[in-house]
Amino acid sequence: MLNIEEIIEIADNQVFEHQGHHLNDLQRAILEGTLQGRTYADIAKEHQHSEKYIKDSASKLWKSLSQAVGKKVNKFNVKSTLGKCSFSSTGRCSFSSTNIFTINSGNLFKESAPSPKNDEMIHKQEQITSHLDLKDAPEIGDFYGRKVELSLLQQKILQGKCNLITLLGIKGIGKTALALKLVDHIKESFEFVIYKSLKSLPSLTQLITEIIYLNDQLIPDNSPHQLSQFKKAIEKHSYLIIIDDVNYIFSKHQVSGKYQPGYEEYGNLFKLLSTTKHRSCLIINSSEEIRELSKLQNDHSHVFTLELLGLDDDGVNILKKFGLKNEENYRKLLNIYQGTPQYLQIIGYLIQELFAGDTNKFLQLDQPFLDIELTAFLEQSLDILPASEVELLHFIASQKGSVLLSELENSYQVYEPIVSSIQSLKRRFLLSTQQINAEVSLEISSLIRKFYHKLDHN
Ligand SMILES: Nc1ncnc2c1ncn2[C@@H]1O[C@H](COP(=O)(O)OP(=O)(O)OP(=O)(O)O)[C@@H](O)[C@H]1O
Ligand SMILES: [Mg+2]
Repeated sequence: MLNIEEIIEIADNQVFEHQGHHLNDLQRAILEGTLQGRTYADIAKEHQHSEKYIKDSASKLWKSLSQAVGKKVNKFNVKSTLGKCSFSSTGRCSFSSTNIFTINSGNLFKESAPSPKNDEMIHKQEQITSHLDLKDAPEIGDFYGRKVELSLLQQKILQGKCNLITLLGIKGIGKTALALKLVDHIKESFEFVIYKSLKSLPSLTQLITEIIYLNDQLIPDNSPHQLSQFKKAIEKHSYLIIIDDVNYIFSKHQVSGKYQPGYEEYGNLFKLLSTTKHRSCLIINSSEEIRELSKLQNDHSHVFTLELLGLDDDGVNILKKFGLKNEENYRKLLNIYQGTPQYLQIIGYLIQELFAGDTNKFLQLDQPFLDIELTAFLEQSLDILPASEVELLHFIASQKGSVLLSELENSYQVYEPIVSSIQSLKRRFLLSTQQINAEVSLEISSLIRKFYHKLDHN
């Protein structure tokens, strides 16, 4: 959950972006007081206004925020609506340059609901990009929601001093889509914009060469000091670099975050990035935590980690796109498939194709229903796990509800390796833990539970 200051900044950003003005001091005070759980009477007393005046001002504020974020905001839900991201740290940075604007790639997005004010804002920004290389980026279709995340990331990068952003979360949650949407919003503030995926397993030398020689002022050489060359480049020029699919360079069937042989040098790149201040911004996507960038390893203000959760109500638009019947069921489906865009797309397509769009009929099946497509997708996501982690997930799936850690101590003769498996699964976002009094409970998603049930009964 974000802190109060960050929620106020998001609110201010949203209002500015959509209405062209910032929150005034009284609006900030009302927002702050409300987030602290104080009453209007209390806020009125502190700021020497009548309670009615504060009530009226608050009502206007909620209205303005509702328009800005595209959903109803009031004093009861403002915290949960604006403060839903999980993150690790904050910062500030500045970029400047003089290069000429030329773009060699088309717009990546079909805007689902274009906002004219937003577009105006983008054009008002100083356009300094001299080279934009998104040729390796996947085509992203309609994009819904994620306003809070976009606003927060934009603020961290453009007004804060964050120059290393890590986007984490399970496969299909929308890391690539969000990173590319963000690029669309902020690319004009950078001289060089480049997207690279590690899916094809490029060596570090290959990656660095492609990134820094994009800037043709640098003469390629075969110097072994590739990292120092890279450092020089990102200090000298402002690059916006997206490194996607970092999880691909991790070893399969091993504990999470272990580099494949020959890819350990990437660890040094990440370490370097987390300890160096420069003029560029790197956005790093992975479905597994990156050890060198974890909270434990560093607590630098220029490093920011965002763990993506499912889409909120905006996710229903994915279902709407398939023209499914009984709109009142959309939210139910959104909850069942945990707002995960990839799952919603698969299920939307299935309902359209085999249920003639009838969501009522589909919901009569045992939920969550995993069709061939969704089963294959989960299989692919879970195929990377070592046997010990599969065994643990199987065990949890076979129990009703969550499992207490103490129960595992009793069930497993050798308990120590279980601790590593729990840690590793947490770093893959496949398991969550919760502390209840003196006990720790383990929980997995209902889809993973169903996946292992199906395996057991086939
Ligand atoms: N906010 C969104 N609105 C609509 N569709 C979305 C949204 N986010 C993601 N999607 C769609 O969901 C699918 C999965 O998203 P994406 O590829 O970004 O996930 P990912 O987290 O990068 O997954 P992976 O870890 O496998 O790379 C894509 O088809 C994407 O277009
Ligand atoms: Mg991706």
